[in-house]
Amino acid sequence: MSTLDTLRARLEPVGQSHVLKFWETLDPAQRDALTNQIESIDWAALPRLVEQYVRNKPAFALPPDVQPAPYLPVDPGAKSRPWDRAAAKAKGEQMLRAGQVAAFVVAGGQGSRLGYEGPKGCYPAGAVTGKPLFAMFADAILGAYDRYGVHVPWYIMTSPLNHDATLEFFAAHHFFGLPRESVRFFMQGVMPSLDIATGRVLLASRGEIATNPDGHGGSLRALHASGSLADMKQRGVTAISYFQVDNPIVNLLDPVFLGLHAGAGGAAAPSSSQMSSKMIPKAYAEEKLGLFCAHGSGPRKGRVEIVEYSDLPMDLQREKLPDGRLRFLAGSIAVHVLGREFVERLNTDAAFELPWHRAEKKIPCIDPATGEPVRPAANNGVKLERFVFDALPMCEHSVVLETDRVEEFAPIKNAEGQDSPQSSRQIQTERAARWLEWCGVAVPRKTDGTPDCVLEISARTASTREELKAGAGLPRAIERGQRLAL
Ligand code: UD1
Repeated sequence: MSTLDTLRARLEPVGQSHVLKFWETLDPAQRDALTNQIESIDWAALPRLVEQYVRNKPAFALPPDVQPAPYLPVDPGAKSRPWDRAAAKAKGEQMLRAGQVAAFVVAGGQGSRLGYEGPKGCYPAGAVTGKPLFAMFADAILGAYDRYGVHVPWYIMTSPLNHDATLEFFAAHHFFGLPRESVRFFMQGVMPSLDIATGRVLLASRGEIATNPDGHGGSLRALHASGSLADMKQRGVTAISYFQVDNPIVNLLDPVFLGLHAGAGGAAAPSSSQMSSKMIPKAYAEEKLGLFCAHGSGPRKGRVEIVEYSDLPMDLQREKLPDGRLRFLAGSIAVHVLGREFVERLNTDAAFELPWHRAEKKIPCIDPATGEPVRPAANNGVKLERFVFDALPMCEHSVVLETDRVEEFAPIKNAEGQDSPQSSRQIQTERAARWLEWCGVAVPRKTDGTPDCVLEISARTASTREELKAGAGLPRAIERGQRLAL
């Protein structure tokens, strides 16, 4: 059978033979590329996905008798669920010193909301220095080396959209001072993008299927398939510190959180977790954060599940407790610790599958009838993605730790407004101002209370205010309008 016949035999039974419509017009290299792309897709699974997610919009099933998930309060001495901060910190530091921790950033997304061309990790995010996000994370890893004497291995998940550009960026910046062998890149999988009306795969060009990265949930398989899990095991890593590429002040190697994950938090967190999470109290009911919920009944009673803001009914999101606080308060900042063994177990369990989530998008493509480009004015495609937090209900134990928004969450998602470069710079400055004031440095403030200066503290200098105080060389006061990077 010729290559063309073999490919046709795969595509025809699943109603996707239009993919080969322009075969005759392709040169040999284009034919090879299309062949490879076709061979990488699980065509047999497609009809079921089209039926479930394109022809139908699956209704989201809330956890039975949905409840707010319990969490450890930011103040370990609080009356409700007090926990042992010193024990957790000591355990986490010991894990870091023993080389049991890996850093893991998911950086395969398209970053379309920000309107930035390159990989999002290259975005200049430092409030004063304009340092790229990747450099800010590298600072945190270098800081851990200074403190614990260990090069924490850093795993970076890219996608075919940005893999080469990410590698080039690291090479051009000499890996930001990190040893080359402690940084490992791997690509996540992709899914074909589907026509919203017909369920047929969209064509990006005459010789290419339109695809999208398969969501950060794809990381769980990709960690295994890329050999990263095996590499971690060989290095003695037990805990994977997971974070998103969009948050420049993420405390990405937090010993307290690592120790809680390992079950060292005292009576409130007595068992080690398979997957732990950080949360912040939502500022208002409509804030777009995933919400920590728990199964109130059923076979997974008591287990934690994050429900996306778009899936939790608004009346529940607006519900208040007698003291006026939101009942569903705990918003996800997408910071987790994953047990390496837990991820291994998921990958060896034949029944393991994360659910798909459907998103309607405007996807540039060609018209399969004419081959002419289409620039859609309305949503013409369906993207299917997996979310990493859908692994939470599979955990027997799962710690959720409250954290302070200004301390750890300054994401850059949108070009302006909330979660924008500007709001991130403001939060970076506010956090630095708080730390400096705590260390006794005078910081000028405007009448509305916000700092009248721009500040940035590198995670290599300090990852907490205590570390800042212990370090040398703090000024006595900051000048009005000053821009200071420490
Ligand atoms: C996400 C969370 C939300 C949480 C918020 C906190 C989802 C669906 N929602 O929202 O619950 O409250 O962050 O900031 O995740 N990525 C990949 N590969 C992909 C898709 C995404 O690596 O295929 C990475 C991105 O590079 C980014 C991260 O995942 O680092 C977040 O993706 P994004 O789709 O922007 O999530 P949000 O809507 O911001």
